[in-house]
Amino acid sequence: MTASRAADLVAALLFVLSLAGLSQHRTSRAGVVYGIAGMALALAATVVVSARSVSAGPVALILLATVIGAAVGLWRARRVEMTQMPELIAVLHSFVGLAAVLVGWNSYLEVEAHGSRGRIAADLIGIHHAEVFIGVFIGAVTFTGSVVAYLKLSARIKSRPLTLPGKNALNLGALALFAVLTVWFTVSPGLPLMVAVTVLALALGWHLVASIGGGDMPVVVSMLNSYSGWAAAAAGFLLDNNLLIVTGALVGSSGAYLSYIMCQAMNRSFLSVIAGGFGIEAPPGGAQEQGEHREVRAPEAAELLARARSVVITPGYGMAVAQAQHPVAELTRRLRERGVEVRFGVHPVAGRLPGHMNVLLAEAKVPYDVVLEMDEINDDFADTSVVLVIGANDTVNPSATDDPASPIAGMPVLRVWEAEQVVVFKRSMASGYAGVQNPLFFRDNTSMLFGDAKQSVEAILEALGSGTGRDPRAAARGATAVR
Ligand code: TAP
Repeated sequence: MTASRAADLVAALLFVLSLAGLSQHRTSRAGVVYGIAGMALALAATVVVSARSVSAGPVALILLATVIGAAVGLWRARRVEMTQMPELIAVLHSFVGLAAVLVGWNSYLEVEAHGSRGRIAADLIGIHHAEVFIGVFIGAVTFTGSVVAYLKLSARIKSRPLTLPGKNALNLGALALFAVLTVWFTVSPGLPLMVAVTVLALALGWHLVASIGGGDMPVVVSMLNSYSGWAAAAAGFLLDNNLLIVTGALVGSSGAYLSYIMCQAMNRSFLSVIAGGFGIEAPPGGAQEQGEHREVRAPEAAELLARARSVVITPGYGMAVAQAQHPVAELTRRLRERGVEVRFGVHPVAGRLPGHMNVLLAEAKVPYDVVLEMDEINDDFADTSVVLVIGANDTVNPSATDDPASPIAGMPVLRVWEAEQVVVFKRSMASGYAGVQNPLFFRDNTSMLFGDAKQSVEAILEALGSGTGRDPRAAARGATAVR
């Protein structure tokens, strides 16, 4: 085995270890380190191999590009806010897509100009043509799709779905045309067909993502992540680079699986995401109030907590918006010091990104062992004194289990209503992402603590500091009934 093949193998293993590490809180740091090591090794091996086969000029250019790319990457990664992560990822996917298009074009032009120079057996040349065509197609769809995703996520264009007449027929028609063109190109390759597939794929990528509502962008970004992996794998075949094929396949399949998990946790089919439109407007009557809700204020909530035996915190998108994770972590620490058992229940699609809540809680240094997944905590709510729903809404909506007519019926949710007391932190009675009203807010054991989540938690911390220590039942009775 040559040294470069050995380096490829080790880098591929490091990428697999990286994925395995990133799948769990506890091991995520190690996962990042494995990923960095794998990529550093892959880059070094590429430069060394290039140095053997080409003159010093191109190698210097590769090194220069690597240094510029690394500098830009470091600069962006240091500045990016957690909330801007999806748009950064979308931009990065667009680069992978563009690279795949350029590799495909380069490979086509090189074979046209100089023949395959014996690299490709004569009877395999048709396969090479198909690789070029498919690589350019996937790359171009990924490129424009990611650019639109970036523009929508960064609010540079409206996030409303574009609804051209017969939009699904347009997408299916483009796919059928691509299949016909691929067969044609494989039999009789030519520049006009290359131009045609590039334009077709650029237009399809644009239309595909433009037709999807802004709220579904996280699923789309994960889908584009998968496409970018397949585009990289296609480029790997063209460049005869095994590591790129393996890495592309890892990214492609993990992105596809992540999209699947996200759709499962939202109880939606992948096709319904592609068809777009969900979460853009509330269904008629969906967000109407359903009775009386009770309000509680921070000092009363603090009293409930001070007397609680066990507390579960279920964070959601509002905790991210309010950036309340640090006071929430401080509240956790203070309650644990008082002997209260505090745990977190994290829904798989709480927030707007996979792992959104876990990242925020890790950033605020909440101990990993008290952060549990939905399935790990759901059976414990019935034995919990107080649940704090901090900026979550759809992920704690009982209508998902009780009301078959609800738009979110069947979505797995955190059964917070089974606890003795529930305190919901939000600013108003507004609905969440899915645009449906939440009957939890009107239950007898639920109190609403209105206001920005960060300010509310800070107010509770302040009240806990003064420690009034009244009976929690008195506090609950003190909660005012509000229409
Ligand atoms: P949501 O249902 O989106 O509700 C968030 C709640 O936070 C809102 O009701 C809002 O109410 C409140 N809020 C906003 N800003 C706040 C602030 N500064 N202080 C306090 N509260 C604030 O949240 P969720 O339970 O996390 O559910 C996530 C939803 O996103 C699900 O429907 C899921 O399917 C969807 N989704 C998730 C993902 C991923 S991967 N996580 C991807 C796509 C879609 P007020 O306006 O009244 O304050």
